[in-house]
Amino acid sequence: MRKINTFTLNITVAILDFLYQGRHFQRFWVLEEIARAPYFAFLSVLHLRESLGLRGQWHIYLMKQHFEQSVNETEHLEIMESRGGNAYWIDRFLARHLVLVYYWINVVYYWVSPRAAYHLSYEIEIHAMETYGKYLAEVDSSDIDICSVMNDELHHAQELYEAMRIIDPDRLTVREKDRKPFPPDVSDLNSVTLVSSVEQK
Ligand SMILES: [Fe+2]
Ligand SMILES: [Fe+2]
Repeated sequence: MRKINTFTLNITVAILDFLYQGRHFQRFWVLEEIARAPYFAFLSVLHLRESLGLRGQWHIYLMKQHFEQSVNETEHLEIMESRGGNAYWIDRFLARHLVLVYYWINVVYYWVSPRAAYHLSYEIEIHAMETYGKYLAEVDSSDIDICSVMNDELHHAQELYEAMRIIDPDRLTVREKDRKPFPPDVSDLNSVTLVSSVEQK
């Protein structure tokens, strides 16, 4: 499953990279629109599991985490909208159709294999963090909004790592283990170089 996750992510990233060359905020908006869907999907499945009497040991912890992540991702979306990320019909059309499909994929995926679903979102959060870090390093190192979003994505990746660890501690991959320890808080613009060091792993 992890290989399928990585393969799917790499293909999707390559397509988006090609389509959004030089259109940074449109690309960020599309990524934010799509990348927040898993958190809604996780919450939906957790609600359903609760209704069916399948509440697990970490149920309330996970629900709180995913609710906070989904609110935070909406804040990211608003930042990208304030920068013109959703200004064009074609970008809204693409993102809103992709997100419909991606939401339902995540509902099924999380129901069948929570561990694998977390892994996919973990990789996406790492990719998002690296994407924003690259923008800061190569385009505008003084963009405080993007630096703050990058820092949030790092926290999301850490939270997903923690979710994977608590629900299935024996199956962390080498790549996931190698990511530990995560770099310290990168909310300070001077710490952008830390992200570059993460990219090189
Ligand atoms: Fe985000
Ligand atoms: Fe995120």
